[in-house]
Amino acid sequence: MDNIYFWSPSVQFKTENGELKVECFNYGKKCAEFFPELYYIAQDGATPEQLKEHFPENKRVFLNSLIRDFIKKKILVKSVITPAELFYSQKKLFHNEYPDDMRFVREKLEAFRIKQTNRRMFSGDVSYILEKTGQGELLENRCSVREFSDDVISYYDFSSVMGILQSKPETHKRYYPSAGGLAVIDVYVHIKAGRVEGIREGLYYYDPVVNSIVFMNDGKGIVSDAHYFTNKEISEGSAFTVYFVYNVGAGMPKYGGMSYYYGIIESGILIAMLTMSGEKTGIGSCSIGDMVYEKIAPCFNLNDNQILLHSMEFGYKKNR
Ligand SMILES: Cc1cc2nc3c(=O)[nH]c(=O)nc-3n(C[C@H](O)[C@H](O)[C@H](O)COP(=O)(O)O)c2cc1C
Repeated sequence: MDNIYFWSPSVQFKTENGELKVECFNYGKKCAEFFPELYYIAQDGATPEQLKEHFPENKRVFLNSLIRDFIKKKILVKSVITPAELFYSQKKLFHNEYPDDMRFVREKLEAFRIKQTNRRMFSGDVSYILEKTGQGELLENRCSVREFSDDVISYYDFSSVMGILQSKPETHKRYYPSAGGLAVIDVYVHIKAGRVEGIREGLYYYDPVVNSIVFMNDGKGIVSDAHYFTNKEISEGSAFTVYFVYNVGAGMPKYGGMSYYYGIIESGILIAMLTMSGEKTGIGSCSIGDMVYEKIAPCFNLNDNQILLHSMEFGYKKNR
């Protein structure tokens, strides 16, 4: 199975004027000769050798470099693809009435946000206005924190936040729900230099069984330019960062492809739990929706069945 590649389910190709086009890449006429056969074979999975066997010998050297390029660009894949790869095709299916530049104009984006947050999808003759109960101080004051205090996080507060992820030895369960109780999210934490009491700078694996963090490396490979511009400062100022990794092997044997979906939901639950356990101790947080995970992935020493999904920045709030 190790060397078996599949045509990525999220990648489309076509031949136009005799030229091969794979998503945004134009491979030209010479490459078009291998299509659609190569696609059909790779749909079912094949090693590079098996792929080449289907074509005349005098074309195999050329085909070899094409296959290598497809592998590099993740057109041919041999393990579960990332959420960015998996979901990007969905945009095509949605008719967007807004101009693309709306995303980059602050005022337009804010107007869009307010419209969305106030949307009401249904109104009817019968409705019950619910009582104003209040949501308690913690929730009333919660908001994403993007500038953190320089204060060193106490070992106790750090333990209190991370501890909600532990496995309970008596029941082999967690403090949060997960599909089938499989707890498919692996957690890693990057501790910044001198920012958490008594803990050396570095990247750690959170071990839920012992409720400990286990040193992996100095974390220097977690470079700030993996972040998109607006998130750089948030990550530079935080005391620690939590990374959520979907463990394919923990979920797919039971739930198949839906396990990926459940893993994303589980990750959302963890985000909410960590947010709230942070709030209790004056530790603010900010979710980071997207970053160039390829730039930092090597640090995590993940296997093919682990996918980086999300990260969250943490630090004491200013004026807590
Ligand atoms: C999935 C997800 C991704 C997010 N990504 C980012 C991000 O990349 N950068 C950022 O500054 N905030 C990010 N946020 C925080 C949201 O911007 C924030 O929750 C939203 O603006 C509402 O503000 P509030 O949390 O202060 O109530 C993200 C939140 C979620 C849940």
